Amino acid sequence: MKIFKVKDQVEGGQKGYEILSEKMANGAKTLGLATGSTPVEFYKHVVASDLDFSDMTSINLDEYVGLDESNDQSYRYFMNEHLFNAKPFKVNYLPNGKAEDLDAEVKHYDSLIDENPIDFQILGIGSNGHIGFNEPGTSFDVTTHVVDLADSTIKDNARFFANEEEVPKQAISMGIASIMKSKAIVLMAFGANKADAVAAMVNGEVTEELPASVLQNHPEVYVIVDEEAGAKL
Ligand code: F6R
Repeated sequence: MKIFKVKDQVEGGQKGYEILSEKMANGAKTLGLATGSTPVEFYKHVVASDLDFSDMTSINLDEYVGLDESNDQSYRYFMNEHLFNAKPFKVNYLPNGKAEDLDAEVKHYDSLIDENPIDFQILGIGSNGHIGFNEPGTSFDVTTHVVDLADSTIKDNARFFANEEEVPKQAISMGIASIMKSKAIVLMAFGANKADAVAAMVNGEVTEELPASVLQNHPEVYVIVDEEAGAKL
């Protein structure tokens, strides 16, 4: 793992953008993308840049089950707002959280990932160490699956909803095995509530109880942290 300590989220977004630009200059064609508060500044840098995605494919990590894409808390809505409206891709994929047959949707998403190997994956990290929505205890071998969100994740994400009750209880998430197949991974973390998870990811035991720790086994991971998130490194 290569660790970059930055001043704040703006500088972190800039660093992530620089790594992406270099990867695209070297032929990256498929991007794995994340939502949440962490990559917002990164997307701002990307949108302000002259990078062209019209020949590129994106595959997002996850989507809530049950939210329509017109719902402003759906991850499809987030991606349109933060990236796709300004920077059109050839094609962008997110799991369909409204699919009637979730098992079929999960298999379909796995086949999309197989057909479009991810060159560059953006990740955030949950305060409990999750990546994507792979909560503690998830097998490192899983591919796309339907997840029951951990109580801590529902609490963390309640800030985006009117109240905790409105946070969906399930999501479809790319699995850890799929994430590990990405050629290069940039994980960003900002803020004091990520410090314990970041320290365990970098220096702790590789364990399914701390899903992000699996990244110690990946050959090309860039970790970008601000002072607070990196305080325990
Ligand atoms: C989002 C995702 C999640 C978030 C994580 C951190 O697509 O897969 O793993 O990256 O929950 O969320 P924020 O960035 O809101 O702190």
